[in-house]
Formats: sequence, structure tokens, C-alpha cells
Amino acid sequence: MAKKRNNFSIERLINGERVEKYDFIVTKQDPLSFVTESFQKVIINLDYANVDGNLKVIQFTSTLPSEGKSTFVSNLSYLLGQRGKKVIVIDLDLRKPKMNRVFGAANKDGLTDYLSGKISLDKAINHSEDLGIDFMTAGEKTSAIINVLEAKKLQDLIATLKEKYDYVLLDTPPVIAVSDALYISKLADGVIFVVAQGKAKKSIVREAVSNLKNHGVNIIGLVLTQVDLKSGAYGYGQNYAYYSDDDDDDVK
Ligand SMILES: Nc1ncnc2c1ncn2[C@@H]1O[C@H](COP(=O)(O)OP(=O)(O)OP(=O)(O)O)[C@@H](O)[C@H]1O
Ligand SMILES: [Mg+2]
Repeated sequence: MAKKRNNFSIERLINGERVEKYDFIVTKQDPLSFVTESFQKVIINLDYANVDGNLKVIQFTSTLPSEGKSTFVSNLSYLLGQRGKKVIVIDLDLRKPKMNRVFGAANKDGLTDYLSGKISLDKAINHSEDLGIDFMTAGEKTSAIINVLEAKKLQDLIATLKEKYDYVLLDTPPVIAVSDALYISKLADGVIFVVAQGKAKKSIVREAVSNLKNHGVNIIGLVLTQVDLKSGAYGYGQNYAYYSDDDDDDVK
């Protein structure tokens, strides 16, 4: 499954180039890099937050599109798998599914196909030999997204997966334009909010976070992505930091 990764490197990312590639898992390709180290810190924080083991279903969202959610989820899932955790990633971004690209799979026989009864659960769950974890693609596109997200069958599915896996990671859309993330949060034990530094205005990030909180969403952490350490200014870099819920004043 491993593909050739021409012309793609951390240097290119740090130097500000935007590369629409999802089959490059930086934590796998560069295990000794600063990025991987930052991810390990995120995992340690997650472990702390999860001492009671009741944070199994974790949702990832952000204020705006392209803040790095899918990239973050794929790297985190890989490293959790490396630590011996049984992990499944579900692409719940039914509008812009990405996980199929991360795992080098077609976006078929996925979640919506399972929920509509077209395929069995076994068929909907794929295993990535490359990353050592399981995943479920979004599946066939549907216009009835909210119906899908509110389906009892989806709740039951998450409950079943919770029994089987240490972590069920949900990649979801940003909160700004559509309410999908809010519906999905009802399925999750906790939400990690991804913030790309220098992208959304602080006030908009605050509004997005407090909107989730007002709906009773359990935000377990904020992750800062795309921090440009080189220039010391905001920009497009490849670093990650993790903040607990109490630190959200420090986001930008
Ligand atoms: N930390 C990072 N540093 C540099 N580039 C990044 C970083 N994270 C993601 N990218 C790049 O930014 C683009 C968007 O990333 P990604 O798809 O992960 O964001 P997203 O928040 O899931 O977007 P969407 O809202 O469209 O689902 C991709 O081309 C990805 O390679
Ligand atoms: Mg995404």
C-alpha cells in the first residue's frame, strides 16, 4: 500500500508550501522529527486526560476548513496504533471525505453504505497494513446528512466499536458553516479542537468553542497546528502543540 512520496518533505511544509497529499504520514516517515515528538506529547496529554479510560470516542473539529483535522487524526491514529492501542478512524466528514485518501482506499463500502444496510459491518471496516489501524471511509455521498448523523444505527455502531477498540477517532467537518460537528459531538466522549495558528480570528475561534460548550460539548483539548517556529510569526509550519481546556485563552 505504501506509495512513492516524491518531492514531499517536512522542509517543504516548513517552508510554507501547501501540499494536498494525504498518503504521507509524517510521524511514520520521520519518526525522530520534532513533529513526531510533538505528537507524542499530545498522546501523553491524552493519556492524562484519559486516566479513567472513559474517553474512547474522540471527535476532531475546528473553526474553519483546512485547519489540519484529517492530517492530525491520521498521524495520531498511527502513533496510537504503534503504542499497541486498538484504533479505528471513522470518516464522519460526509461532505468532504478525506480518510479514503489517507489510507489509499476508494471511498466506497463505507459508513453510509453500512448505515443504509447495503453492506455488513465487517465489510465496512478496513484494515490499513501500512498504518496498522482500522478505518471506515465515509461511503456513498448522501444529501440526507443530518438524518445519517442522527440515526440510531450510527449510535449503536459507535457503541459496538467502543467495546472493540481502545480509541474510536471521528474526523468531522469544521463548525463554521454546518452543524454536522454539533450532531456528531453527541456521539463522542470528548472533542479535540484543532486550531491552525494565524488562520481564524481569535474572536471566531472563541465563538466556535463557546458555541460547542454551550451545547454541552466536552472539549478535552485544543491542538495548535501549522505553527511557524522558523519565523517566529504565524504561518504555515508543521508543528503541533496541545492545550488543556483551561488554557484556551492562550490560543493565539
Ligand atoms: N500541520 C500542518 N502543517 C502543514 N500542512 C498541513 C498541516 N496540517 C495539514 N496540512 C495540510 O493542509 C491541508 C489541509 O489539511 P487537512 O485536510 O488535514 O485539514 P482539514 O482541517 O481536515 O480540512 P477540511 O476542513 O477540508 O476537512 C492539506 O493539504 C494538508 O497536507
Ligand atoms: Mg478534513
